[in-house]
Amino acid sequence: MKYGIIGAMDSEIALLTSKMTAVTVDRSAGLTFYTGELCGQEAVVVKCGVGKVNAAACTQALIDRYGVERLINVGVAGGVSSELKVLDVVVGRALVQHDFDLRPFGYVKGYLGEVYSGDSQRPTCFEADPVMVEACESAAKKALGCEHSCYVGVIASGDEFVAASDRRSAIAASCGAMASEMEGAAVAQVAFQNGVPFLVLRTISDLADGSAPVSFETVVQFAADIAAKVILEMLRA
Ligand code: ADE
Repeated sequence: MKYGIIGAMDSEIALLTSKMTAVTVDRSAGLTFYTGELCGQEAVVVKCGVGKVNAAACTQALIDRYGVERLINVGVAGGVSSELKVLDVVVGRALVQHDFDLRPFGYVKGYLGEVYSGDSQRPTCFEADPVMVEACESAAKKALGCEHSCYVGVIASGDEFVAASDRRSAIAASCGAMASEMEGAAVAQVAFQNGVPFLVLRTISDLADGSAPVSFETVVQFAADIAAKVILEMLRA
């Protein structure tokens, strides 16, 4: 099985690229693709850059140029559910775009229009591959020990670093989301359009409130490494 693994920032792919063997590096479309072996699996690891457009373009490139058969988006997120603590992990059961806004036509925020099936009064959800979700949850339980908790839930993406309590509550309420980040739903949508199973895994780096920028900067590398360790464990198993 060939895996395409996407992180938005260097910190989110650093541990993964450091563990790769037989690595070939190619550059195209402004991206650097690391192809090789990771925990006994064929993998292409790439930093896509921050935001949904970067994530979508990179996902399509992984499918078209590298023929990846499974997609994984790994990194950090802001926690928008009150259950979550910094350094807990969230496996995305479904991905939604919290900033997609067709409300002038009577739709709810997050609904992408009639091209996708689903209720027009709910945000459009892209469901992660259930087999990958289960494998990731088991890997997280092994890799995390009892230090941090693993949750499975909705992850909401948008082109916004969420850093205010009112935005945090609005995203939790409109999408039923546990965590907010900036790429997962774009990876999910492109994966869905191409019929490629996908998974999104995020470690909570901040609580998407006024303290988020400082919390993010303080723990981002540590948090990103936790998510990467879970992915390594999952590939190994
Ligand atoms: N990634 C990590 N923290 C985030 C936040 N608060 N908002 C959006 N993306 C994030």
